[in-house]
Amino acid sequence: MVVREARGADVPQIVAVMAPAVAEGSVLPRDVRAEDFLVAEAPDGAIIGVVALSAWSAEVVELGSLVSALPGRGVGGLLVEAAVQEATRRGFSSIVSLTGIGGFFERSRFVQVYDRPWARARGCATLPSQDFPELSEAVGNKARRCAVCPRLANCSQSLLARPLPVARALASREVA
Ligand SMILES: CC(C)(COP(=O)(O)OP(=O)(O)OC[C@H]1O[C@@H](n2cnc3c(N)ncnc32)[C@H](O)[C@@H]1OP(=O)(O)O)[C@@H](O)C(=O)NCCC(=O)NCCS
Repeated sequence: MVVREARGADVPQIVAVMAPAVAEGSVLPRDVRAEDFLVAEAPDGAIIGVVALSAWSAEVVELGSLVSALPGRGVGGLLVEAAVQEATRRGFSSIVSLTGIGGFFERSRFVQVYDRPWARARGCATLPSQDFPELSEAVGNKARRCAVCPRLANCSQSLLARPLPVARALASREVA
């Protein structure tokens, strides 16, 4: 199994892998654009898992639409790590997930953030996490999207986040 960036030709398979999770409500329906997705590919070329990265701000990127077609074989965990690596490469400082399966993400070193976008959208009082100050603006933006979500009334998803390492300089020199 390898994880790679999706290509345009992968879109029908990505939609097919996501379909059961969308139908059961664990993943929200979305327009599938290949440039947003990483895919796990089996040796025979079949796509067996997908994950999307969506920028919330210049610093914060959301990991979403995570689906494994072969549960319990390490596909989901590998996709999370690949998404973390890709988000780091793109220069984000935090990766977040709005999810109903926080325990799964905690295994990949995500931590619960107490400022829940859906709660803010409903007008509940929540405190911003002290550990992720850069999330405040991004969470506010997300809350505005939650406010128009048809599932807002029943949403109980948590926001989890993992800080990303600062990109290291590849080369440097003094300039006059
Ligand atoms: C969540 C999901 C992506 C995990 O994929 P996977 O390929 O099974 O993941 P892995 O094989 O790497 O890890 C499996 C482990 O995660 C655990 N896990 C799976 N779902 C879990 C959940 N809802 N909560 C907590 N742990 C969970 C399993 O118990 C298993 O644990 P084990 O290794 O101790 O047996 C997959 O179950 C899935 O596609 N679910 C439907 C869509 C979904 O809920 N996506 C997440 C939306 S944010």
